[in-house]
Amino acid sequence: METPLPYSAAGQGIPLLLIHGFPHDRSAWAPQLERLSEHAHVIAVDLRGPASRSTPAAITMEMHARDVAALMDHLGLERAVICGLSMGGYIALAFALAHPERLRGLVLCNTRAGADDAQAREGREEVAQRALKEGTAVIARGMAPKMVTPAAPVELRRSIEAMMARQQPATVAAWARGMALRADQRGRLGSIEVPTLIITSDGDEAVPPADSTEMHRAMPGSELVVIPGAGHMSNLEAPEAFDRAVKTFLRGL
Ligand code: MLT
Repeated sequence: METPLPYSAAGQGIPLLLIHGFPHDRSAWAPQLERLSEHAHVIAVDLRGPASRSTPAAITMEMHARDVAALMDHLGLERAVICGLSMGGYIALAFALAHPERLRGLVLCNTRAGADDAQAREGREEVAQRALKEGTAVIARGMAPKMVTPAAPVELRRSIEAMMARQQPATVAAWARGMALRADQRGRLGSIEVPTLIITSDGDEAVPPADSTEMHRAMPGSELVVIPGAGHMSNLEAPEAFDRAVKTFLRGL
């Protein structure tokens, strides 16, 4: 990657690097950028899109993780707490396994360590094709309701849908194809030795809390926080509870 990933940053202290989910952008971390920056040097990144818009190849979790490491080089950060939600969590995990020496801590939010099965991989390719043929508004309309609980304010659901709809079709295709290629990392979780916080929410239908419990069991010493009354994007639907969990974790480092 020639140019570093675009990012927003605020605050001082321990670096906390936030990686968004699919198909999101760094605006998904707006509450954390504002509030956690009282406690940390918060950096929210935009993941890269593909080199070619006409034939978007997969961007793997390892490629995204390399981009994150390159941004840390650019910012002069030797180590950081890496925090990712959902696809961002897949990337955080890839980062932890590839660059353990650059981790101060790990926060895995509403995510899983397993790989896609054959059916899920087919679904990824369908999403990629639809995004390319029909545009991202269609994808956004289908996915937005799964990002929060039915009780979430309608404005929140609308803003999540708008964020997803403004992503480039080729980017959405390359990210979806990249997720389909990710490895099953469950057998490697025990090798991660840095302090780890696992966050899930009881209303997450996209990545069920059981996936987080499974990671927690496989990572001795990890902490598990279950946020009540929130869906997949727990950081947006329950920002106070989410931030409290991260703050407590950062204080303990
Ligand atoms: C996400 O929010 O990043 C997605 O739900 C992840 C996925 O589709 O596996």
